[in-house]
Amino acid sequence: MSATTTYPNYSPGLEGVIGGITNISEIVSETSTLIYRGYDVHELASKGSFEETAYLLLYGALPNRAQLDEFVTTLKNEREVPTEVYTALKQLPKDCHPMDIAKVGFAVYAPFDPDYAAPATDQDANRRKAVRILAKASTIVGNGHRIRNGHEPLKPKAEHTIAQNFLYLMSGNEPDAKTAHVLDSSLTLYAEHGYNASTFACRVTVATLSDIYSGIVTGIGTLKGPLHGGANEEAMKMIQEIGSVDRAEAWIRDALATKKKIMGFGHREYKKRDPRAIYLTKVAKELCVEKGQTQWSEIADILENVMETEKGIYPNVDFPAAYAYYVLGIPIDLYTPIFVIARVSGWSAHVLEQLANNRLIRPACIYEGPKSATWVPVDER
Ligand code: SDX
Repeated sequence: MSATTTYPNYSPGLEGVIGGITNISEIVSETSTLIYRGYDVHELASKGSFEETAYLLLYGALPNRAQLDEFVTTLKNEREVPTEVYTALKQLPKDCHPMDIAKVGFAVYAPFDPDYAAPATDQDANRRKAVRILAKASTIVGNGHRIRNGHEPLKPKAEHTIAQNFLYLMSGNEPDAKTAHVLDSSLTLYAEHGYNASTFACRVTVATLSDIYSGIVTGIGTLKGPLHGGANEEAMKMIQEIGSVDRAEAWIRDALATKKKIMGFGHREYKKRDPRAIYLTKVAKELCVEKGQTQWSEIADILENVMETEKGIYPNVDFPAAYAYYVLGIPIDLYTPIFVIARVSGWSAHVLEQLANNRLIRPACIYEGPKSATWVPVDER
């Protein structure tokens, strides 16, 4: 848009534009609340498992005991991926980012899905595919990490939850209960968030009647960016760069003075606090004390205070997730892929919702380029 022109009905970045109607989640900025299908996300994260939340998102209601047992059994049975996927991942350069590994993993798996040939509008087949995607995400990310580091993939264990499966494959060791619990609740917090960029991109893709895997690959590619899911990795790199508590205040003031974007802060929808960050900040700060690594939470406190007083901007979910995962010993370049392990549930719920009442998503744009260029033959230009 030229500096002087404003257009009615045009909002840069689509800010404030309503892109659709959903029954999946609601963000209430004024009260810093997030609900998934009526349930407060704090309650889901503290009382339930990620598997229960994923079921809620995919099927519309919390499961009873029998439904949950059946769902968990299906997830465990679907957890393995064909060797062809691992063969493809082994061809990738070792410096390939794990988000690209996840993207390739799902792109290669797609034609192996037993429902591959089902039409895009077959909702039963889409739900079966969604469950397979959820089951395989932690395996693709966990074993993708192994392959990238020169190790052979491991066979997932039947007794593990999704969080445990990721931790086990990532490290090759049996995960401890506390780490698995913290990761599990963070997966619930990361699972769904309305029309965020990756979910919207996913809906745009499937609204063309392309398949759910194309939607998931679109979602992963969109989530990777540091203005979106990639911020959790960048936030930890920033905290590491600051390095010590005594440097934090000067660092953040200098960053603001030079108009740097502070990763893990700010949100398009929350003008006050991100409820997920409220929950995870408490968890992350307790973990820092437990693990004897309070320098990270002290740096975080200083950044939070200066951002609030100077800019009125608060941390989003990616900020506490960053140093919580760090003190849990998770490699930084797996933070955004962990977001994928969680968000495939939200993306898939949106795919099902989009296709239940589909219309092509195609906004208009305003043309500001030249209007009457004169054709000149190529050799005369
Ligand atoms: C996620 O949408 C979702 O729901 C996403 C997500 C999900 O669950 O799917 O919640 C996950 O993506 C969280 C956000 C992760 N990104 C970051 O942490 C990157 C840093 N944040 C910012 O770049 C920014 O806050 C965004 C991208 C999150 C939001 O961008 P907007 O709504 O387009 O806002 P903006 O960049 O236009 O900022 C508005 C003002 C500007 O100041 P002015 O020019 O008006 O003076 O606020 C300032 C910005 O400079 N600002 C920041 C800032 N965030 C906003 N200044 C410094 N550091 C920041 N982080």
